[in-house]
Amino acid sequence: MDLKEEILKLKEELDVTLVAHFYQRDEVFELADITGDSLELARKAKETDSKYVVFCGVGFMGESVKVLSPEKTVLMPKIACCAMARMIDEGYYEQNLKQINEAGIANEDILPITYINSSAAVKAKVGEMGGMVCTSSNAYKIIEKGLESGKKIFFVPDRCLGQNFAKQMNLKSAIVGDGSDLKEADIICYNGFCSVHQLFTVDDVEFYREKYPNILVAVHPECDPSVCDAADFVGSTSQLIQYIKDLPIEQKVVVGTEFNMVNRLRDKNTYILSSTKPECPTMNETTLEDVYRTLKSIKDNNISEETLIKVNDETIKWARVALERMLEV
Ligand code: 13P
Ligand code: SF4
Repeated sequence: MDLKEEILKLKEELDVTLVAHFYQRDEVFELADITGDSLELARKAKETDSKYVVFCGVGFMGESVKVLSPEKTVLMPKIACCAMARMIDEGYYEQNLKQINEAGIANEDILPITYINSSAAVKAKVGEMGGMVCTSSNAYKIIEKGLESGKKIFFVPDRCLGQNFAKQMNLKSAIVGDGSDLKEADIICYNGFCSVHQLFTVDDVEFYREKYPNILVAVHPECDPSVCDAADFVGSTSQLIQYIKDLPIEQKVVVGTEFNMVNRLRDKNTYILSSTKPECPTMNETTLEDVYRTLKSIKDNNISEETLIKVNDETIKWARVALERMLEV
């Protein structure tokens, strides 16, 4: 059986939209109707009018579609959870808030912003406190909007994104629990990070700059602030792709983000900013077989509970508020 052919046939027959993030395996990515960075995927998946959305990505992405469009049946061929999103749950969120309160900052003086890489339950907590969601492509605008409240920003879960944007905006940041003075900070960060983007180091940047003096360095804002400071360009996955595509073919560029995405840009003069292959294990979980099985289960009216994204109504209510606030900005 040619899986690719079978998937294309099933897509024709069914009222379904196949969505894939840039970090997906090539064979899965090629078959998607919608691709993009997290913001684009949230927007476009919300706008589709198909009954079924089959989402190839990590858990928080599928959940965001369900939260924004509860009437849709959202399926994930593999429910793989982003390692960073797993670093925070409602309990840790509350614990951090308590630590912030103990530092002399009351909840009324805090506006929470969560990176989209978090569970719907965390987004709901943030929504309930008047906060909103951001992605790597709109974080600057969202933080700017949040600061209009005159409050301190409590940024969860990615400390790197929080610190990187604080620097860009000439603001002070601090991390809960690392001994830094929270009262002094404009942006108080939760201590989460992406294990894949932690692989890239300033040593790697120096290595490439020494080897190829005219090389450009382009990285994702989930990289450590020291790496972002040393780079020529920092942007979301879509922004990185655009930046690389616009470069003249002879221009070498070394990229600090997930392997599958950079590998798809080999027609440009690209290098990977690490000697270790920077694969996101969870993004790589979804196979063509999984996609086929999921589509077939829709056709046979035999959907597996394991692939079905479910979010309870109360969580949807507040997580949706947090996501909609972002989409409005
Ligand atoms: P983007 O929103 O830039 O696609 O990032 C998602 C992500 O998980 C990067 O690691
Ligand atoms: Fe999560 Fe990092 Fe994978 Fe992105 S690359 S999905 S942040 S673990």
